[in-house]
Amino acid sequence: MRPSHPPSSLTIGSVVIDPPVVLAPMAGFTSMPFRLVCSRAGAGLVCTEMASARALCYNSTRTLELMATCPAERPVSIQLFGDSPDVIARAVPVAVQAGADLIDINMGCTVPKVVRSGSGSALLKDHSRACEIVAAAVEASGVPVTVKLRAGLRRRDGSYLELASRLVHLGVAALVLHGRTVTQGFAGQVDLQTIKHLVEAVPIPVVGNGDILKPGDAVRMVEESGCAGVMIGRGALIDPLLLGRCAAALRGDTVPERLGASSRLAIGLCLAQMLALEIGKQRAAHKIRRHLGWCTKGLPDSAALRRELFEADTLSRMAHVMTKWAATHQGLSDEAYA
Ligand SMILES: Cc1cc2nc3c(=O)[nH]c(=O)nc-3n(C[C@H](O)[C@H](O)[C@H](O)COP(=O)(O)O)c2cc1C
Repeated sequence: MRPSHPPSSLTIGSVVIDPPVVLAPMAGFTSMPFRLVCSRAGAGLVCTEMASARALCYNSTRTLELMATCPAERPVSIQLFGDSPDVIARAVPVAVQAGADLIDINMGCTVPKVVRSGSGSALLKDHSRACEIVAAAVEASGVPVTVKLRAGLRRRDGSYLELASRLVHLGVAALVLHGRTVTQGFAGQVDLQTIKHLVEAVPIPVVGNGDILKPGDAVRMVEESGCAGVMIGRGALIDPLLLGRCAAALRGDTVPERLGASSRLAIGLCLAQMLALEIGKQRAAHKIRRHLGWCTKGLPDSAALRRELFEADTLSRMAHVMTKWAATHQGLSDEAYA
């Protein structure tokens, strides 16, 4: 399972990312509590969800909240999206002040509201503006700037490679590629060849992203694309310990067993408590339900379990539901949840 040329640690500018396994930015999920869990679980770098550079220019409290970081999670990357060099130039120093070790510019988001505003994946259509935005970010930032992008607008559209080369000349320190096109959204499978082509086209580190759900997927991505590191999104929502298991597989170490379902639920409960402390019970409730939706994925009787968890109106009731579920399903091996 070990890659024949395992990546050593990944260095972006002056930031050492060891292991080269990164928690992906995910709107509504990658809060500071979840990032802390993932960093403890073995991520070498964690990312905030995308924050609107324009909202930061208006001092939006909610947007500032998204960017709050703490020393225990470092290194941390703060992701910004924006439609003009001016707003990015004003937002970047705020993100650096908030504790960013890296600034990432979003060029992959396909959410209609973001695309309509001319940000996210809309920038893959307008290379001149994409370059102006990145040049402004590099100029305004004292820390390395990275860009997260998709493999073009549609299949066989190699224009992302041309854009990437221009970004390198502007001083971007690393690129993250989700190996799907914009029109694909999340459909189909990640195309590892798109990552390989980018690795071959640029002299800076490339972090590969897409569909890593088990340690073997991380090894395969590195093996087939030659990327310097991997980024994991949905797999970490299902089980944050996947990050550490992928790190072990990339090192060629014995991969720890997958956590049992009741341990995963216990992590979900800890996260719920951390979120409640961080943003208050009322606001945490919605986020907690969304997290529990992911960490109960694939469990036996998961629909009933989720329904009971969603109905529980206190953390102790949630804990009770989880304990009851674990007692009922005690005999099942971990494989049953794979
Ligand atoms: C719920 C959710 C929210 C996301 N939010 C962001 C975001 O804020 N910024 C971003 O660049 N990508 C975002 N993404 C995309 C992920 O970072 C990642 O590129 C994608 O999920 C593919 O990786 P995966 O297969 O490991 O999940 C989001 C994905 C999901 C599922």
